[in-house]
Amino acid sequence: MITHAYSEADVPALADLHRRAFPDFFLSRLGVGFLRQFYLGYIGDPDAVVSVARAEDGRVVGVCVGTTNPSGFFSRLLKARFFGFVGASVRAILRTPRVAPRLLAALAYRGDGAPGQEGALLSSLCVDPEARSAGTGRALEGAWRERAAQLGARQAFLTTDAADNDAVNRFYERCGWCLKDQFVTSRGRAMNRYWRDLTATAASTTATDPSSFVPFARPDIGEAEIEAVVTALRSGWLTTGPNCAAFEQEFAEFLGGGVHALAVNSATAGLHLAVDGLGLGPGDEVIVPTWTFTSTAEVVRYTGATPVMVDVDPVTLNLDLAAAERAVNPRTRAVIPVHFAGLPLDRAALTTFAGRHGLRTVEDAAHAFPVSSQGRLVGNGESDAVVFSFYATKTITTGEGGMLVTPDPELATRARTMRLHGINRDVFDRYHSQRPNWQYDVVAAGYKYNLTDTAAAMGRVQLGRAVAMREARARIASSYHESFGDLPVTLPVGGFSGDHAWHLYILRLHPDAPLSRDDFVAELARQGIGTSVHFTPLHMLSQWRDSYGLRNEDFPVATDVFSQVVSLPLFSTMTDAQVGRVIQATRSALGEP
Ligand SMILES: Cc1ncc(COP(=O)(O)O)c(C=O)c1O
Repeated sequence: MITHAYSEADVPALADLHRRAFPDFFLSRLGVGFLRQFYLGYIGDPDAVVSVARAEDGRVVGVCVGTTNPSGFFSRLLKARFFGFVGASVRAILRTPRVAPRLLAALAYRGDGAPGQEGALLSSLCVDPEARSAGTGRALEGAWRERAAQLGARQAFLTTDAADNDAVNRFYERCGWCLKDQFVTSRGRAMNRYWRDLTATAASTTATDPSSFVPFARPDIGEAEIEAVVTALRSGWLTTGPNCAAFEQEFAEFLGGGVHALAVNSATAGLHLAVDGLGLGPGDEVIVPTWTFTSTAEVVRYTGATPVMVDVDPVTLNLDLAAAERAVNPRTRAVIPVHFAGLPLDRAALTTFAGRHGLRTVEDAAHAFPVSSQGRLVGNGESDAVVFSFYATKTITTGEGGMLVTPDPELATRARTMRLHGINRDVFDRYHSQRPNWQYDVVAAGYKYNLTDTAAAMGRVQLGRAVAMREARARIASSYHESFGDLPVTLPVGGFSGDHAWHLYILRLHPDAPLSRDDFVAELARQGIGTSVHFTPLHMLSQWRDSYGLRNEDFPVATDVFSQVVSLPLFSTMTDAQVGRVIQATRSALGEP
């Protein structure tokens, strides 16, 4: 007997029947719990087409289910968390960009060969293996098709014979769906294979699940930082105060060399104070690498002097001193090299170069804390000034912030004054000394570059963890190195024991790599991996290009390398799983297992 309904009481038997009829079919492989949910999902569904064959004793011997509205059916199931324990993987599949549109197109299929047209049925037919010889399957299929026609479906298909398979294949071909070549053989095997592939893709990419997204950078803020900030907040002193004073002292002690350290609210501010302290002005020229963030050049402009962009070394991407040599002329007053990505430049060579031409040196060490060069920590007193950044993505952070370091007491005094409006007393002194706080003089038209005490409180804790965090980043960089040796890329140079700060890990894709840098970035994004590019060289940015008439051919290394570089995620709290995902995504994007 065939009827067109079943009840919840029948569901366990239906699930069991399905499993026995199609032990290999993908639904069966998802487990009997899933099958129950599957059959429950049809009960009360207005678009459902159901036919059930029963033996004389009422036992279910065959079932055929389908829907005239597959997309509606599936979206209802998803909303109802119908998929239960497999819901997460199904949702992941639906969020997998390469697969989802095709799957959704398939679900929207209405059966007459074109996606989105009326009349389709998605169906599943199971017959108890022992009842097959009695023609139950054929009868059930006929009854089900009839029922479908009554419900207004123009075409129904069941994937039980070759003709139906051809129809399904035509449809999949239109959708560009991957079942095309497989479906002609056996529905069970093909679907199983397909489902396994789909699930593997979803598992390996979990791409668009925000919780599994691997960001390009993430600050390493622990309970100690939080506690320090809360303590600062409770202290009643928020602006520059005792935490800033302690932060400066501890930072200077860390670097050694008797330097003065001034906490500022960004590295840009620190660089500006440094070049201001050198007394630069209109008519002066300052050499900067084209391979840097715009701050390095903009601070020179603040003084009225002219930044002169110079190409970089093809291996280190630090300032090319030979190119710098060619840029020197009688107007050249200073040089601002960048320790790019955390790799210190050759300081002995820099000192020789600057000494030969009587140039002042300000090191842009935004990426370079803590790191040693030729046995000395960057910042411990060789240059006129060294400036560190504590921006949120940097190697230590205060959210926004920076530190200006100088061995020169005069430069320190000038910078201290200019940091706070050119006032000749600092904030803390004004509020803590016996003299009334309004009694001060303004000795120069200064700036507002001081750091808050809450930020400094965070910075002090970060300073204490700086070496440990660097070591964690170095371990990750080393894992990347070990994993990428056979890929068509150039790996960054540098060691793993304190001579590279590993702020950035930058790959250079070879011209023969299977995809371009931009496509690589897009592919990693698709796989849920954040990346970045450091940097678009200054000579390619309109402000600098147009102001100074800069041409790509004058910066052959930077121009060439720019199209190849990509910065991979690198932060001290990266888990092994995240590192593994970056490695796997990078390798697969470059065509390697
Ligand atoms: C090389 C370089 N210099 C200077 C800066 C400016 O740092 P801040 O954001 O602290 O002003 C950055 C920031 O990314 C940088 O990368």
